[in-house]
This record gives sequence, structure tokens and C-alpha cells, in this order.
Amino acid sequence: MSEHRVPRSRRFLVCEPRHFAVQYAINPWMRPDQPVDADLAREQWQGLLRAYRAHGHTVESVEPVPGLPDMVFAANAAFVVGGRVFGSFFHAPERRPESTHYDTWFKAAGYDVHRPLSVSEGEGDLVWTGRYVLAGTGFRTTREAHREAQEFLGHPVIGLTLVDPYFYHLDTALFVLDDDNVCYYPEAFSAGSREVLRRLYPDAVLAGREDALAFGLNSVSDGRHVFIAPRAEALAERLADHGYDPVPVDLSEFHKAGGGIKCCTQEIRS
Ligand code: ARG
Repeated sequence: MSEHRVPRSRRFLVCEPRHFAVQYAINPWMRPDQPVDADLAREQWQGLLRAYRAHGHTVESVEPVPGLPDMVFAANAAFVVGGRVFGSFFHAPERRPESTHYDTWFKAAGYDVHRPLSVSEGEGDLVWTGRYVLAGTGFRTTREAHREAQEFLGHPVIGLTLVDPYFYHLDTALFVLDDDNVCYYPEAFSAGSREVLRRLYPDAVLAGREDALAFGLNSVSDGRHVFIAPRAEALAERLADHGYDPVPVDLSEFHKAGGGIKCCTQEIRS
């Protein structure tokens, strides 16, 4: 029950959606002909920051750059564990310039950044479980990058294959609840990867397609509070049954770019 779930305060890196827009289509959610409400996007994003701060988390931010509309998706810029920063190498040429701006932030904050040689989209596909890394591939981050991450980080990297283009990043199909458990949408994975997840997490909280399409798996947990899209109602109920406290944060404007709560959040584990 809830009393047993212990939250741990986190350090998050974000990027204000000052230049956020859908100007190109690099995933099936993106429709450049459908406008984004910039004011609403900014309000929703401020709501996320308020929710994090109200729950004791620290939020730092990178200065947004004009012409980089997806820079708000801070998760994709790096993967940080034990103070080691595994930077990004974006699949889409449109996003490649983002890496330099994030690297500048990391360097100013006192970190060395390893720039991967193969496509790797930070926490979009690399997920820290507390003991090892779960690593997505199939649409963006490559197997080669998984090997490179393992070599650089010195932590085991377990590859998982994504098969549904709507769930093109691992963080759209799975999130870590705490050191012992995860939550995921099984159909986003290949048969073999589903089996791997079943063996690693026999008691995982599973989500259905409706909750997955509502960006319910693009959530952030601090061990007790789960910052989650409000439309993922069934999943929020299931999490509450497992003793977690769902904290609804609506980022619907960002769904138009294929992103949600987790995509907007990079965790710095120093
Ligand atoms: N439009 C962005 C892209 O397709 C969205 C990134 C979402 N980020 C994430 N961590 N899933 O690259």
C-alpha cells in the first residue's frame, strides 16, 4: 500500500517550449498541417514543473534555441547515470543540432559528455532501472549504440525490440516505477522482448493499448508519485491499486509531436 512506497527526490533537466511546434513528421503522431496551441503548450508545461516542484523535485533548464521545435523533449538529449553522460546522436537530421546545445549545458554543469558514434536518443530509448539499463531499438537507437552505452557506462544493457511505430521510443511503452518494478505495454515489443520483460518483471504493471495511446507509459515515477497523463485512466487506477499515487499532468499539446511527460524530462543521476 501507499505507506510503503517511498518517494526519492530527483534532479530533472527540462527545456522550455518557447519554440515548440510540429514542423516536420518523424513519427506517426506528427502532422505538420495540424496547428499546436503555443500558449496552451506553455501552460501545460508550466503545470508539469509545478507538479515536480510541489513533490520536492529539483528542476533545471536548458535555454531553448529557435529553429529546434523538438528541443523541449529533453529526455532525448542524453542518458546520465552515476555522473556519466552518454550524449545523443539523433536519427533525424532535423534534431541533430540539439545535441550540441545540451552538451554545452552539461559541460557548464561540470560533466564530460560522451558523444555516441551510432544513433542513440538518450532516455528516449535508454532506461535506468536501478540495477541495469533497458535499451530500446527498432526505430531510433541502434544495437551498436547499446554496446557503446554498456562499454561507456559499465552497467549491463539489455536490448528490447520495439515493433509498433506509434511506440517508437522505449519511453513511450515502458517506465520504471521503482528499483523493483516497471510498467509497460506488452504489444509494443517483439515476442522475444516480451518474454525477456516477463522473466525480469513477473509482477510488472501492464497497460492496454488505450492507455498506451494516451501516453500513459510516458510517465515519470519517483518511487511513490507517478506523474501521468490524465487520459490514461485505467492505468492510473491500476497503479493506485499497487500502492502508487498517480499525479495527473496534461501535456496533450505535446502529444501532437509524439511526446509526453517523460519525453519532456531528463533525469540527472549524479
Ligand atoms: N517529435 C519528437 C521525435 O519524434 C518527439 C520525441 C519524444 N521523446 C521521447 N522521449 N519519446 O523525436
